[in-house]
Amino acid sequence: MTNITLFPSVSKGTIDKAVYGHFSEHIGGVFYGGLWVGEDSPIRNYRGWRADAVDALKKVSPAVLRWPGGCFSETYNWRDGIGPRDKRPRRVNWWYYQDHRVETNQVGTNEFVHLCRLIGAEPYFAANITSTTPMDIRDWIEYCNFPAGTTTLADMRAENGDVEPFNVQYWGIGNENWGGGGNMTPEMYAREMLRYHTVCWPVGLSRDGKNGVKAIGCGANSDDMDWTDRMMREYNNRVPLYALSFHYYCGSAGDCVNFNEEEWYRLLSQASYMQKIMDHHRGVMDRYDPQRKITLACDEWGCWHPDGSGPSKGYNLFEQQSTMRDALVASLTLDIFNNSCDIIKMANVAQICNNLHCLILAGTGENEMIVTPTYHVFDMYQKHQDAEHISSVVECGKKQVEGRGDLPLVSVSASKKDGKTLITVSNLNYSAEERVKICSGGDLLKGSAKVTQLYAIPQAHNTFDKPDAVKPNGFTYDINGKIDLYLPPASVTAFEIG
Ligand code: AHR
Repeated sequence: MTNITLFPSVSKGTIDKAVYGHFSEHIGGVFYGGLWVGEDSPIRNYRGWRADAVDALKKVSPAVLRWPGGCFSETYNWRDGIGPRDKRPRRVNWWYYQDHRVETNQVGTNEFVHLCRLIGAEPYFAANITSTTPMDIRDWIEYCNFPAGTTTLADMRAENGDVEPFNVQYWGIGNENWGGGGNMTPEMYAREMLRYHTVCWPVGLSRDGKNGVKAIGCGANSDDMDWTDRMMREYNNRVPLYALSFHYYCGSAGDCVNFNEEEWYRLLSQASYMQKIMDHHRGVMDRYDPQRKITLACDEWGCWHPDGSGPSKGYNLFEQQSTMRDALVASLTLDIFNNSCDIIKMANVAQICNNLHCLILAGTGENEMIVTPTYHVFDMYQKHQDAEHISSVVECGKKQVEGRGDLPLVSVSASKKDGKTLITVSNLNYSAEERVKICSGGDLLKGSAKVTQLYAIPQAHNTFDKPDAVKPNGFTYDINGKIDLYLPPASVTAFEIG
């Protein structure tokens, strides 16, 4: 049996909605053959964006959408993606060596911002600091954010159809500069970042975004604390940074779909390592930033299974199926973010469509669009966005995972907003139901709860033929001072009270 105690008067603060962010890169089928179909497509679309996918994404309130990479961003010149689409250059992109697909630049800055507006997400741009100049990035910010009539670049945006400034708030200075972004040392990166930041200063870079732009520095791969330590030392707080961003892919364990019980627990244990990574980061950053002016972002996270399990059978690079196991990785990770909302202010699951840990799988036909089990988790968790965190203590069984230690078998987070409480509980047991009792101080647990539950066998997933094989069920639960019920194995349950 699991006992969960909620402490409504003990909170780590507000859960930044940007933690419910997503990542979209020009890679494989994320855009071309995925979200972007073009305005002349027979597939129903809004300004070239696949309408069924847009409608689905809008429903889960994606807070942020990161673009254009990833590794792609470090050889991307934003000027290729503006102006008449039939005049845009075709280029070899960063991923060409793997999939031999040429970048057509049909999706560029204006189109991408239209997508963000359609689904209600804030755009987050990753700037190329490896193969374009600081002045190019400054021009990009000016193109996006300055009012029409003020500068030539702002007028160019207006001529390209968007008179209103895009107000792109989040700007990443580079991507994975320890690897695909130039193979830099932490010291080299810090110097480059300072150079770009200084040149972009006049167009609004600041720590808090009050001048319009939040600058985000490139942090470590996973828990490479040597990078974080050396980069922070060299950077030495010389310019304001809003966040330091790290990437953590929990990888895979066995096959994407046909995994066994041992592999189920191993992947969940790998996912749970996110907590340690964040704590390690904050510990190192505290040496250089004791007042915690720089926050933490995880701008790429998710499972990374072997290629070929998605509907395109390997044509779309990195496309993978998404089972209940991926859904549980998502709920566990979002619980970790919610419960660490004092230190993490943004996170972006990788990637939104036809790729790693995605929410949408889309083919090239009108009826070929499905949502994944992970999509449903984001839907069930969306009311945690900008809500006040509620602390919880969980007493539950643990599973020993060989070589990795104990994995707690129940994961929880809770929050309140506008008089409503949301409690999300995942049962990580592969095949056993779990009796869960939830108690709380105060008068949180009263009346009835609207319960949404995602439950299916661990390997279950949706396909174009069976789009609803995994979807949540709903029921009402009468509370009477406490919640006491059996949660099915491999399930995610959301209780909405009030
Ligand atoms: O998400 C795929 C790739 O993973 C990204 O381009 C890169 O940043 C990371 O290594």
